[in-house]
Amino acid sequence: MLKPLTNILVVDDEQEICDIIRESLSSAEYRVTTLTDSSKALEYLDNHPVDLVLTDMVMDEYSGLQILEAAQAKQQDVMVILMTAHPTVKMAISVLKKGAYDFLVKPFKLDLLKSAIHRALSHQRALRENVHLRGQIEFLKVANAHTSGIEIETFLEMVMDSCKKELGATAVGLIEIDPNTKEPIRWNSITDDDELEAVVVDASIIDKFAGTRRTKPVIEGKRITSKEQPIIRMSIYQPLYIRRTLHGVISLVIDSVFGQVTPGQLDVLAILTNSAASAIANYNLYQDLQHSYLEAIHGLANAIEARDKYTAGHTDRVCKLAELIAIELDWDDKQLLGLTMGCTLHDIGKLAVPDSILNKPNALTKDEAKQMRKHPEMGLKIIKGIDLFKPAIPFIYSHHERWDGKGYPRGLKGEEIPLEGRLLAVADTFDAILSHRPYRKGASLQSAVDELVKYRGVQFDPMIVDIFLRVLKEGKVDIKGMYDLDEDPTALEIKISTPVTETAPV
Ligand SMILES: [Fe+2]
Repeated sequence: MLKPLTNILVVDDEQEICDIIRESLSSAEYRVTTLTDSSKALEYLDNHPVDLVLTDMVMDEYSGLQILEAAQAKQQDVMVILMTAHPTVKMAISVLKKGAYDFLVKPFKLDLLKSAIHRALSHQRALRENVHLRGQIEFLKVANAHTSGIEIETFLEMVMDSCKKELGATAVGLIEIDPNTKEPIRWNSITDDDELEAVVVDASIIDKFAGTRRTKPVIEGKRITSKEQPIIRMSIYQPLYIRRTLHGVISLVIDSVFGQVTPGQLDVLAILTNSAASAIANYNLYQDLQHSYLEAIHGLANAIEARDKYTAGHTDRVCKLAELIAIELDWDDKQLLGLTMGCTLHDIGKLAVPDSILNKPNALTKDEAKQMRKHPEMGLKIIKGIDLFKPAIPFIYSHHERWDGKGYPRGLKGEEIPLEGRLLAVADTFDAILSHRPYRKGASLQSAVDELVKYRGVQFDPMIVDIFLRVLKEGKVDIKGMYDLDEDPTALEIKISTPVTETAPV
């Protein structure tokens, strides 16, 4: 599919001129075709790739200008040089205006012809180089986006979009596979033709590289008819490797008259695929790291619960309840991940509270309560040095603030309290009321609801309480599974009344 030779078409109704030009251009670099019939020349331009056309101006059937127009319509970056024995300034200007590269007056010396061809092909190389440079600019844009921390999906779409532009593709697809099972785990496409959507993300594309270490693209082509025109539909499959293991393929469908891509375009494709590969590799590493951190978080949460024998399962339940509220607030995946972290770690500061206080079977003394109330600050101290845990901070530090400003550690009021803290306060308290504690048994569901209603707008953000009670009443909370209670949440009585100014038991 690559062009090893420069294709030159010579059109002149004088056979002798054709022969002389062919002879003078015979070199290893050029493939010269000569035609004396201008109508055959038009046909030739319809069906063959041509880099340079050398045509007589005046011929029997079609003129040099018509050959010029046909060449420009059918061929990419084609250079056209016109020849005439009867030049006029007007003709020269009009020909050059129409986009001919040069104009030669017959008879001409062959050296003059060769240098005109040489200049035209240098100009063509510069134009094609320019395409390559544009490809590199696309790459730089993509590379910049990669380092600016955009989401992986957006980044991969940018890569596909650049591939589409630079290779003039009709459709581009990206398939990422699990390197062990070879099953697709992510796929996406950008296409001008809906019918090609499934083609570019067809899982069987991966089989083309199975068991091979092929790094070069697989290029296939077939003749089809599109809009009543015969064209070549090329499929290019560029493998995507991460540390020498196949992780996916970028596939393109390109419709063109001659089924050509330049080496520069293939270079751009390889470069863009590499940037997609490094983005996926970074993302996977980040996911692994995050997974390890989440495991560490769960380890820490278990350590907290192991010390406080009365709160077994508290963390998991609070996470579930808080998530139900967050979903109603339309939180996105990133916020939900922060919520999982925050809810899991919210009481991590209790690691600094002595066992004697944490597990005391009866009410705490004033001093003991003071120590216990330090756990949000202790939690902040433990977490704040770890970058990845930053989203957990507002949960840890603010979950004991109160809507009326009487909470701790900062005594924030109303919406001064981060939303994360207001949300967690409701989930945490609801679970605390329903759970068995050293100093009391778990309450009934109705009494837990009554408590939330009672302290709505006093201790709790009324908006969060309302959302939670709605979710509860809709039966979205697994009360039986979480608390072994037989009460039917959908039958709950929820009576919103004027707020009181006391404190709910926690
Ligand atoms: Fe707490």
